Amino acid sequence: MSRYEFDTLTDRRGTSCLKYDFKAERGYPENVLPLWVADMDFPTAPEIVEAIKETASHGIFGYTVPKQDYFDTVLKWYADRFGYCPGSRSIVITPGVVFAISAAVRAFTAEGDAVIIQPPVYYPFFSAVTENGRKLVENELAYKDGKYSIDFENFENKIKENDVKLFILCSPHNPAGRVWTAEELRQLGDICERYGVTVISDEIHSDFVREGYKHTVFTDACPQLRSRTVVCTAPSKSFNLAGLQISHIFIENEELRRKFKSVLSAQGYTEVNTLGLAASRAAYEKGGDWLEQCRKYIEGNLQFLKNFLAEKLPTLRLVEPEGTYFAWIDFSALGLDKRALNSLIINKAHLWLDAGHIFGERSEQFQRIVLACPRAILRQALTQLEEAVKEELI
Ligand SMILES: Cc1ncc(COP(=O)(O)O)c(C=O)c1O
Repeated sequence: MSRYEFDTLTDRRGTSCLKYDFKAERGYPENVLPLWVADMDFPTAPEIVEAIKETASHGIFGYTVPKQDYFDTVLKWYADRFGYCPGSRSIVITPGVVFAISAAVRAFTAEGDAVIIQPPVYYPFFSAVTENGRKLVENELAYKDGKYSIDFENFENKIKENDVKLFILCSPHNPAGRVWTAEELRQLGDICERYGVTVISDEIHSDFVREGYKHTVFTDACPQLRSRTVVCTAPSKSFNLAGLQISHIFIENEELRRKFKSVLSAQGYTEVNTLGLAASRAAYEKGGDWLEQCRKYIEGNLQFLKNFLAEKLPTLRLVEPEGTYFAWIDFSALGLDKRALNSLIINKAHLWLDAGHIFGERSEQFQRIVLACPRAILRQALTQLEEAVKEELI
């Protein structure tokens, strides 16, 4: 029996939340049901809410800096769950993982340097490279028989040809849902070592790995790259705390850490968000049970979606995720171009999803659905999708 409730519908409208309250501003009709951006429609763990309330009741929100016991709490989470033991000096706090990736791009490369990513991939990876004036190199993931894999030969060739300095890895992979095996990570690491490439491993989704799969922290698969890797983590996806802006960036090498911190201080970032810190501590100390129940519920949503597609929408193909809380769905059998597919989703199915093309040019036949919502919302969304697709196929 779950101690926590995930079926309850919580009305998020009118809270300035990006997911529901910015339809007009983002060019969407008012009647779309949103299953886009990666946050959950579940309230976070009650233990975390309590910790925030307790901190808020103090009434003073002056400058805050975490002490050693906070870092120990974070380290314990990663040691217990993944056997990852980077040492407490390695943690740098930032207000987000995207912020950290962008800072790392500035810290470890110069203008014009080449940075490699693997589309389809979380879209801020593109802008972290291009908006910092670096050269974007793309190693498209191979998509075959409904599964994504890494084209290692291409990866190596592109690194060699473009003199790539930095690799931004998404592990587990958003949106394809791959949980990279230790062997795959080792192969990537060997290539990066051969060409002196620094690695940013974005592991923000590591708490969402399905039964039968195992998340390996990049530097545990490739210990030889400890001195050249930045591992990005956060409680924000795991506990639905994105708005509290706290993430933990592990940089074991002192020189790399110094360079990274120097970019942060050039930006004027030093102290952390008081409420974010309280929430994060409570999450890592007391949130384990809630997260387990949440993962089970999301697994139930995935099974529901799989059954629904098999029974009612067999023309659509789900890329079976190994991790993350996304469903990445291939609509190519409908034979629609990008505009027509997006129009079907928005104007006929009345849904707001993340369109595939934002994750990479070649993915315009895909849509990403966030599964971290009460089942009733998912059921409603899929029913709307079914009606629209059926109408399209007539
Ligand atoms: C792979 C990945 N990295 C980073 C983020 C966002 O992290 P933050 O909110 O800490 O910037 C997301 C959110 O969806 C994500 O999927």
